[in-house]
Amino acid sequence: MTSLQKVLVTKTELQQRVQELGADISRDYEGKELVLIGILKGAAVFMADLMREITLPIGMDYMSVSSYGASSTSSGVITVKKDIDTDIRGKHVLLVEDMIDTGLTLQHLKQLFALREAASVRICTILSKPSRRLADIPIDYCGIEIPDEFVVGYGLDYAEQFRNLPEVWIVQTGE
Ligand code: PRP
Ligand code: MN
Ligand code: MG
Repeated sequence: MTSLQKVLVTKTELQQRVQELGADISRDYEGKELVLIGILKGAAVFMADLMREITLPIGMDYMSVSSYGASSTSSGVITVKKDIDTDIRGKHVLLVEDMIDTGLTLQHLKQLFALREAASVRICTILSKPSRRLADIPIDYCGIEIPDEFVVGYGLDYAEQFRNLPEVWIVQTGE
């Protein structure tokens, strides 16, 4: 059985951090050509909120990658399932995520965009679980650090459920 346990991050807290991140990004990228790239599916909700807090002209696109499957012992190898159709050469790329866990997805994507000759590649996530990190990647814009609990909502799923919850919940998976 899967059941929602309690709210870990409220709607108000999320809203507050998204506004702050949007302000930081707007200040840092002033005068630069910025493209936000949301990593589907989880980042869809955060991406929609974040872009409306950025006061600069921006480009945006989405990408979908397959993680390393159900296995928790991961190789860090990911494949691109849906690529962007924006030419990002010479542009400043900001990868937007809902959650950074091991960091392996973002480590790979950072390398990929460096190869594609983006002017710069930075990372923005609304949630991060630092205790789970395997790849030591710098998170340039980090919303909220959370403990190692299974969480859903604000884009995050458990078996594709709960993405539409407006707050972040701890879920009991019954495993
Ligand atoms: C989750 C999350 C990140 C990634 C983080 O996506 O949205 O994209 O895992 O994990 P990592 O830091 O260990 O690489 P998931 O693979 O569940 O796909 P989804 O976004 O479609 O739910
Ligand atoms: Mn994801
Ligand atoms: Mg998921």
